[in-house]
Formats: sequence, structure tokens, C-alpha cells
Amino acid sequence: MTALLLNGKELAAKKREQLKKDVDQLTTENVIPGLAVILVGEDPASQSYVKAKQKACEQAGIHSVLIKKPDTITEEELLSDIERLNEDNSIDGILVQLPIPKHISEQAVIEKIAPEKDVDGFHPINIGKMMVGEETFLPCTPYGVVEMLKEAKIDLVGKHVVVVGRSNIVGKPVGQLLLNEHATVTYCHSRTKNLREMTNLADILIVAIGRANFINADDVKPGAVVVDVGINRVDGKLCGDVDFDSVKEKASYLTPVPGGVGPMTITMLLENTVQSARKRL
Ligand SMILES: NC(=O)c1ccc[n+]([C@@H]2O[C@H](COP(=O)([O-])OP(=O)(O)OC[C@H]3O[C@@H](n4cnc5c(N)ncnc54)[C@H](OP(=O)(O)O)[C@@H]3O)[C@@H](O)[C@H]2O)c1
Repeated sequence: MTALLLNGKELAAKKREQLKKDVDQLTTENVIPGLAVILVGEDPASQSYVKAKQKACEQAGIHSVLIKKPDTITEEELLSDIERLNEDNSIDGILVQLPIPKHISEQAVIEKIAPEKDVDGFHPINIGKMMVGEETFLPCTPYGVVEMLKEAKIDLVGKHVVVVGRSNIVGKPVGQLLLNEHATVTYCHSRTKNLREMTNLADILIVAIGRANFINADDVKPGAVVVDVGINRVDGKLCGDVDFDSVKEKASYLTPVPGGVGPMTITMLLENTVQSARKRL
């Protein structure tokens, strides 16, 4: 068997085309969606993620504002920057690029962002709404994963989803969203015993651990759908958490890295920003 590709790049392009039309429509009604990104420090990976987000905003017609702060900024100063953006009517979405320096509480920063502008979907209020299945901003990477599975018309009802990784931004929410879609969800993490036995039970295997090529064909049930969220750099080349070449011979569907989940994440951020701007009408 050779897996069919879940092509995030293609789906992202299709969604961004539609988003541009939505933004044009909003603009004719005098609402220009606005996204503010706060970047603290000089981390090269964060700089490149922020650049990609700004470029995507520009292409979609979303007004984007980049606020750069030195890594010596105090927590108080950062929180008051967020407060200003909370009150700025031209800004519909606020995100603080993570990670931030250790002397600042990440949770305090997340909780300072007004929930109605939290387009990353990390605020506890929005996480709570997601848990109970209320409409809210969904965290972008998990939201993108679910959209990819739905686009490929992969049946989720009653399927056994195994999520490897339990971070607050990927693992936990992706499992919750799939539970909301009536899947049966198992979470695995670094303390899981017999990981291979668990992953071999998966109809749909979602991997988000940050370890290059960690999951290989022996970890995958024949015909499983495999979603690789990982982004790792090995010898200057990007690769996922899944060993693409071996797993593609065993899975029914597989996401490539790059070109899989990555492009969907930014697209869902744009979607959340546009959704927020619509509320201004
Ligand atoms: N495509 C995208 O747009 C996108 C977005 C976000 C993140 N990512 C990528 O996704 C990956 C995960 O990101 P993250 O933020 O969720 O990472 P994270 O916060 O570091 O969490 C990693 C998770 O993996 C688990 N883990 C680590 N080693 C393991 C092992 N050997 N066996 C089983 N579980 C293991 C950890 O378990 P414990 O909890 O027990 O420590 C933890 O729950 C990274 O490569 C990141 O770059 C991609």
C-alpha cells in the first residue's frame, strides 16, 4: 500500500483564496480585519514564524501589526502592551509568539489577552468553550488537523484516535476536537508504557512530540491514517516526527512534512482573525 497524501498546502491555498474574498467583502463594509503579533526577543525560529504569519495576512488583505520587544521586557510591561491592544478597536486578533523569556509567565500572558481577541485559542475561557463544544476560537494547529481530515472525507465517528503528545497547544486540544467529532481518543506521552502497542491500535494516529522520524512503520497499523504534526530540522532539512518513507508503505493516508499540517496552522489563524472581525459588523 502507498498512502494517499493529505496535502495541507493545497487545502490551505484553497481556504486562503476564500478568506481573501471574505476580507474583501468585510472591507467594503468598512471592517478591515486586524491582527497584532507581539514578538519578544530575537529567536530565529520565532522570527521566521512571525514573518510567515505577516506575509499570509498581507496576501489575504488582513491588516497586520508587528510589535517587537527586547527579551529584557518585564512581565508588567508586556501585560500593559496587551492591555492596549485589547482596547484597540482596529485589532481583532492578538497573539504573542511563544516561547517567551523564562522570567515572564506564559500563562499570565495568555490570560491577559481578551478572550474575544484570542485568535490562537489558548485562553482558558476559549479552551473551556472548546471542551463543552461551544463555538469559539479553536487552537490553530488542532483546528487545521481536523479540517484536513474532513476535507479528505475521513470518517471520524467511532474511530480509535491515538494522539502521541499532550501539549496544551497541540496534543490535548487535537484529541478533544476529535472527541467532539465522536472519535474514541487515547492520549500517549513520554511516560506511556508500551507506546508501540498503543500506536498499533490507532485507526487515526496523530503525532506531535518534536522528535525527528520517531514513529516508523512498525508503530503503525496497516491502513491507518497518520497525521504528522512535528517540525524538526535535521542537517538543515525539515522533517516530521514520522519516518515518511517507511510509513507511507503502510498507512492509507499520510501528511508530508513540509506541506502537511504546517500551512494549515497559519490558515486557521487567518480564519480566526476574520471570524473575530465579523463580530464587529
Ligand atoms: N505544524 C505546525 O504548525 C506545528 C505547530 C505546533 C507545533 N508543531 C511541532 O509539533 C511538535 C510538538 O510540538 P508541541 O508544542 O506539542 O511540543 P511539546 O510541548 O514539547 O510536547 C511534546 C509532547 O510529546 C511528548 N513526548 C516527547 N517525547 C516522547 C516520546 N519519546 N514518546 C512519547 N511522547 C513523547 C511529551 O510528553 P510529556 O508531556 O510526558 O513530556 C509532550 O507531551 C514539535 O515538533 C513542534 O515543532 C508543529
